[in-house]
Order: sequence, then structure tokens, then C-alpha cells
Amino acid sequence: MPDTATAAPAQTPTVIRREDYTAPDYAIDSLALAFDLEPGATRVKSRLAVAPAHEQGSAADVRPLKLDGEALKLVSIALDGQPLAEGRDYRVDDSGLTVTAPPQGSFTLEIETEIDPKGNSELSGLYLSNGIFCTQCEAEGFRRITYFPDRPDVLTRYHVTIRGPKDSCPVLLSNGNLAETGELSDGRHYAVWDDPFPKPSYLFALVAGDLACHEEGFTTHSGREVALRIYVEHGKESRTGWAMDSLKRAMRWDETRFGLEYDLDLFNIVAVSDFNMGAMENKSLNVFNDKYILADPDTATDGDYAGIESVVAHEYFHNWTGNRVTCRDWFQLSLKEGLTVFRDQEFSSDVRSRPVERIQTVRALRARQFPEDAGPLAHPVRPDSYIEINNFYTPTVYEKGAEVIRMLHSLLGEDGFQKGMRLYIERHDGQAATCDDFVAAMADANDVDLEQFKRWYSQAGTPEVEVTGAYDGDSGTYEMTVRQTCPPTPGQPEKQPLQIPFAVGLLDAQGQDIPLALEGEDSGATSATKVLELRESEQRFRFPGVPEPRALSYNRGFSAPVNLKSEQSAEELAFLMAQDSDPFARWEAGQRYALRLLLQAVETLQAGGVPEFDTAFIDAFREILRDPQLDKAFAAEALTLPGESYIGEQMQPLDVDAIHRAREALRRRLAETLTDDLQEVYTVNTVTEAYSPEGEQAAQRALRNTALSYLSALAPEEGAALERLVDHYHAADNMTDRMAPLRLLADIGGEAAEATLQDFHDRYRDNDLVMDKWLALQAVSARPDTLERVKALEEHPVFSLSRPNKVRALIGTFVQANPLRYHAADGSGYRFHADRVLTLDGINSQIAARLLTPLGRWARMGEERQRLMKAELERILSAPDLSRDVYEIASKSLE
Ligand code: ARG
Ligand code: ZN
Repeated sequence: MPDTATAAPAQTPTVIRREDYTAPDYAIDSLALAFDLEPGATRVKSRLAVAPAHEQGSAADVRPLKLDGEALKLVSIALDGQPLAEGRDYRVDDSGLTVTAPPQGSFTLEIETEIDPKGNSELSGLYLSNGIFCTQCEAEGFRRITYFPDRPDVLTRYHVTIRGPKDSCPVLLSNGNLAETGELSDGRHYAVWDDPFPKPSYLFALVAGDLACHEEGFTTHSGREVALRIYVEHGKESRTGWAMDSLKRAMRWDETRFGLEYDLDLFNIVAVSDFNMGAMENKSLNVFNDKYILADPDTATDGDYAGIESVVAHEYFHNWTGNRVTCRDWFQLSLKEGLTVFRDQEFSSDVRSRPVERIQTVRALRARQFPEDAGPLAHPVRPDSYIEINNFYTPTVYEKGAEVIRMLHSLLGEDGFQKGMRLYIERHDGQAATCDDFVAAMADANDVDLEQFKRWYSQAGTPEVEVTGAYDGDSGTYEMTVRQTCPPTPGQPEKQPLQIPFAVGLLDAQGQDIPLALEGEDSGATSATKVLELRESEQRFRFPGVPEPRALSYNRGFSAPVNLKSEQSAEELAFLMAQDSDPFARWEAGQRYALRLLLQAVETLQAGGVPEFDTAFIDAFREILRDPQLDKAFAAEALTLPGESYIGEQMQPLDVDAIHRAREALRRRLAETLTDDLQEVYTVNTVTEAYSPEGEQAAQRALRNTALSYLSALAPEEGAALERLVDHYHAADNMTDRMAPLRLLADIGGEAAEATLQDFHDRYRDNDLVMDKWLALQAVSARPDTLERVKALEEHPVFSLSRPNKVRALIGTFVQANPLRYHAADGSGYRFHADRVLTLDGINSQIAARLLTPLGRWARMGEERQRLMKAELERILSAPDLSRDVYEIASKSLE
């Protein structure tokens, strides 16, 4: 075992602090870039029009000009045409180049660098994805292309010339408008792009390669004709239709709901196969991971289609929230991401089922953000410090950030919120703004005070809300006492009370909502759902003139991202599950009831007993199965038990084996008791029409595949159950119906499973994205030999540690989505995990750091696993040449 002294990298990385922000010393009014593309040695010439942004009364006020730069070879540098001398005029180090004594006033700087796209395995800056030149500059990738003030508050007009070989790079793209094209000697050609909108360097993009194009048009509200082009690798163009439709829907929606219109004549999307994240909103040239563009019924599931629709919309929406108004510094990341996630969620809710969208959002928030907020990497929506900004593209900044925006929306209403949006854009269009600016616009537009609300940006941790109620029969008054607390998080031992919109309802014995008005409000203010405004640690709310409620429904619609501590009887939960008029709360009651039963079952199993489950719960499930009125997509959600990770979040220490067994036991119990109903649902929901990825038939598939999953829990090894799965797979005419049984088969194992997995492999061996599914299916399997299998799959030709999608599908799935096998008692999962993080760190440090986070959850485990996990973190930390990315996650994980 390594000793416990943790070795920091040779140089402990610098911590960047929000409070240290200073405005830039220089503005770059324009930037001319010229690229000579060569895979191993691309030349980049840049010409910067530099102007001082600070007062220069005399030469004594002139400050050095600091440009960021990383992994660059400097070829030449000249100021106003005069070559500069190293040492005398400038100095270069690992982090950049400083012109030590620039002249007073404005000047021109010309720099030539050489970079190596082919050797760029970090996929940040300019790199090659399957032979296509492409860029990823957010957050700090532009400095890997040329020396520049690579910070979001330096906004510049870009003029870009791209020269490259005609045969391998017929398509040459950058931001803005195409100004010129032409031929060069030696089989090369060029294109010149001009972006009229000043932008920060992180929004710069360049793509060059041999790409197929799907083009359509869109007419904006005010009559602008916009060409929409989606570029993909040849052979993939037949799978771009859905993304194109999604883009048009998103453009129209942003006009109608937010009054925001597109601002150029061209909007390009390029999809590449190797990409660190999902997608990137570069001005008028979005670059995507293939996964969020390509779809057809044979290769994409209904969920994939939904994901494409939402990511295409998200990136498009950034054009206003992110690009036209950008971030002052990276601490403000949620300014654009929280807001844009909120916008994409609203889009999905408007074009799909709002309740189902909300349920899925909350499920994901609880699976990813709540654990982050409860662990060693907890940070505020607007962080106070970081070592590596790429580590802060987190569920907290994105998803909790979106919840914060949603709370503003509930507090202000749609009209008030839109008023605030208009003021925000009017004030900050063309600027780099802060989260405070956003809240100020919301406050000013609505003439309200949001000072306390701002704590949501500065305070980490998931608040806990506890509600108790008492009915006074004599006065007919219901009194609710609401308490809020928030557990400490790293660096924040004490928490202040937050302003929380907390939606509640009271149900009478018939399940009807009791109209509510608070004491002192006039009776015209009654409503079925009352949004209480919490501001103090403890508050009382009185509802006079009401009959005795049968059940209390709270945090309706998940009005705030909090944990509820209140005790409700099983009976009350069953009642809400059947009756609550708020679909989210109805779903939630079922989840809470299930969770309670599962946690009891875990205890029973740990004590060596056999778990039993309330018949009331099973009856409630039956009601859902039999209710013809119910939206089928909602029913599928309501019939899905909380996942193993979420169950694990509720217990300490976490017992992965008992959780798995408890959940399986409840699944089997439900299947045994409700076999006929499940059979019926399975049979009647067979879809016969031609495939469409949404609407009623997608809902039917979701419900039918949920029934299939329960039915497979019936003595799964048995012939009949197995046969149903295999038949379902072979009868399928779409990916959703192939994946559902295959996922179940992969858990069951045995000959039928192997044969079906093989069939799937053979059928899709040439489809990269589907092979990712094939890898993930096996990595998530509950079979005891899963780790061995994962290791064997690393040898499969499709796998490569330098391809992020492969790493995520195989290793990421294993460490993040398979708690049962990842937490193997002998520590083999942890050892494998740390080994791969270390190897990956030398290839792609962003991906390595992201992959690492599950090791940080050690505090939730029993003693022996804690020791094993910490030992692996120590081992990682003591490795030589660790990246800043991995160093930050590993060191914080041990704190
Ligand atoms: N802004 C992109 C998106 O949300 C994410 C890019 C993050 N990239 C990174 N390397 N951290 O929409
Ligand atoms: Zn985004």
C-alpha cells in the first residue's frame, strides 16, 4: 500500500479565484487569422489590432501585454512590422508569451505559430477527428492554436483565411459569412470567413475536411432567409434529417417563446466522431459529437432522438444566451449554461410532454447533481475558485444552474421572466456579463428584491426542507410549519437560509385539491397549488377556511431542487400516488414509497431475512397498469423503480449487494403479483404503424418495454421469459425495441444472451455509435464477470482509449452506472479504474478527470471499501506528471 503522504505534482497547480478578477489591460479590436493546414504541422499566422484598455497618461502607464499560449511552437513575432527579440522584447513560458514593454497607444502584433493537429490527443484546440480538421476552444483551447488573450471578456472581430488541400479538405469552414474562395497552386485552395459579431476566442471554430452536406432553409420571423447546413462524414448524411427538423423547431420556438431571432444568413453544424463533450455553440458553426446529430430508426433509440432534439436546440439557443451575451469570466459559466439548459428544457416541455420531461430532468438531477452536491467536489453554481476550468462543466453548473433559473421563473411568472430576459439582452447584448447582471435585470424589470435569492449562486449543497402540518378543526385552519437547512459542503461549514419557491397542495378525502389562500390573502387569491415563498430557517403558513385534508402534496412540479425530510405515512403516499393532480408529485409519491420499501428490504436482507413488500404499493402499481386515462409515457415513469445509485444515496454505509438484491426482489414481487396485467399491457401496446420517434407510439414503446422488463424478472433463467426477450429483439424494427430486451439479456447472461449480443454486434459492427451501445450494454451488466468482460472488450478493434465516446461507453459506464460490480469487495473495480485514469491522463486529461469522479464517493462506503478507494486516489496523486485536471479532482476527492 502506498504511504499516506500525498505527493503533489512537481509544481502545485495555481488556484484561480473569482475575487481576483481584473479587467483586461488590452482590447483586441480585430484578429486576422490564416491557417495553412497540414496534419502534423499547421502554420497559423495571426494579426492582432491591439488597443490599450486602461488609461495611459504617459509611457509609464503602459503595461506588459500577456498572451496565453500552450503547446505552441513560435515561428515569428513582429510589432508594427518590426520583428521582436526574445529576452529583450518578449518572453515565453509554458503558459504564454509576454510582450514586456509595448508602445503607448494602439499597435499591430503579428505572430506565426506552428501546431500539430495530428498529435493533439487532448482534442482541445485544433485536432483531427477521423481525418477531419476541427476545433474545440471552450474553455481554453484557443491558446493551443495561437498566442492570444484567451479569456471570454476579450471580444474581437475575426477574419479567417483557411488554406488546405482540395482533395482531403474540399470543405473549409469558420464562423460568420463566407467572403471569398479561390484556388492555390499544388492542389490547394482557400476560403475566407468574416464574422461580423465580435466574439471571445472560445467561440472561434474551424473545420476542414471531406464532408457530406445536408442543406435546407429557414425563414425567420422578420423574413431573413437562413441557409441551414449539417455536415457529416460521407455515408452518414442519411441520418441527419431529425437533427435538421429539430433545428428548425428550435429556431421557431425561440422566436415565439423568447422573441429571439437568428442573426446571420448561414447556420452550420458539423458532426465529428471524436469530441470531448456533447456539442459546442461556436458562432454560426456548431460542432457536435456524432452522437447528438445522427439518427435513424434502425440505429437510434427514442431516447437518442430526444437527446438530439434537445442538444441541437441547446447549442442553437446559445446564440443569444452565451454568444450575443457572453460570460465575463469562467466563474460565470452558469450564466450561459444554466440559462441555456433551462431554455432547452422548456423547449422540450413545449414540444413534448411537460410532466414527463420534468420527471426525467429530476431523475437525472438526483442521479448526478445531488451526489455531486453531497460529495467532496460540491461547489456553488457560481464557483469561487478552480484549478482547471474544464472540471467545472458539471451537473451543478448546468443542471442545478437551470433549476436556479427555473425558480426565478416560478417567482416572477412567465411574463415577468420574459420582461427580465428582454432587459438582460437590451443591457448586455455584445458584452461579457456576470450572474449578478442577470439577476439584476430580472430584479429591475420586475421591481423586486432578489438579494437573498442570489445565495443560490454562492451556496453549495442541496437544501433540506421539512414540513409538518396540523389541522385545527374548530377554526378550520391548516397550519404548515416549514423548516429549511443545508448540510455543510467543502469550505462552507455554515449556510444561510435561501429564498425557495415551494409549491404545495392539500387534497381532500376524494383526492380533490382544496382551494388554498394564505391567511391575510383575499379569497380571490385561492388556487389549487400555492407557491410558498420560504426565506427563513423556519416559517409558519396558515390556510384558513379549509376542510380537513386527507393528504399533503409538496414541492409540486419539483418547484425547488431540495431534499424533503418529512415523514408521510405509507397510506398517504399510496393515496397521492393514485390521486395527486400534480403529475410530478404523483410520480414522486410513488418513488418515495418505493424508496421506503427498498430501504426496509435492504435492512431485512442485511439481517439475513426475506424482504416483504406492502400490498398497498403493489395495488397502486396495478392501478397505474390498468388506468386507461393515463399518459403512457407517464405510466412508464411511474412504474420504474428508483435506480440503485439513487437508493444508495439514501443510506450510509452504502451496501451495493443488498441494494441490488432488494431492488431485484421488489421487481420480482411486482412481476409475480401483476403478471396478467403486465402481459396485457405488453400485448396491447404493440406498435403497428410506421416508426416515429415521439408521441403516442414512443410512449407505447416505453410502457411496453417497462412491462417487458418486469416480466423478465419472473424466473429469468426460465425458457418462456428468455424466449420473450429474444423474440422481442428479433421482431423489432427499431433500435428502442432492440435495446430494451438486449439490456435485460445482458444482465441474465447465458447462451441466449450471448447469441443475441453476437447478432447485434454482427449487424452493427460498422456503425460506430451503435457499437458504443454494444459496449455499454456489457459494461452495465450485473453479471459477476463484468469487469473481466470489460477488460476483454478493451481489446476489441472498435475500442480505443483515445476516442472519448469509446471510453465513456465502456469504462465510463462501468465506473458510473454499475455500482454493483464497480464496488466489488476485493477492490478490483477501483484498481482497474485508477489504472485507466492514469493511462488516459497521458492521452486526454479532460476525459481522464471526468472519468475519475466516482472514486471520490468513498465516504459513502463501508470501512474496507473506503480504504481501498482512498488508496487508489493516493496512488493516482503520487503518479508523476499528473495533469492539472486529474490533480484537482484527485486531491479534492481526498480532502
Ligand atoms: N458549451 C458547450 C455546451 O454546453 C460545452 C463545451 C464544454 N467543453 C469543454 N471542453 N469543457 O453546450
Ligand atoms: Zn451549453
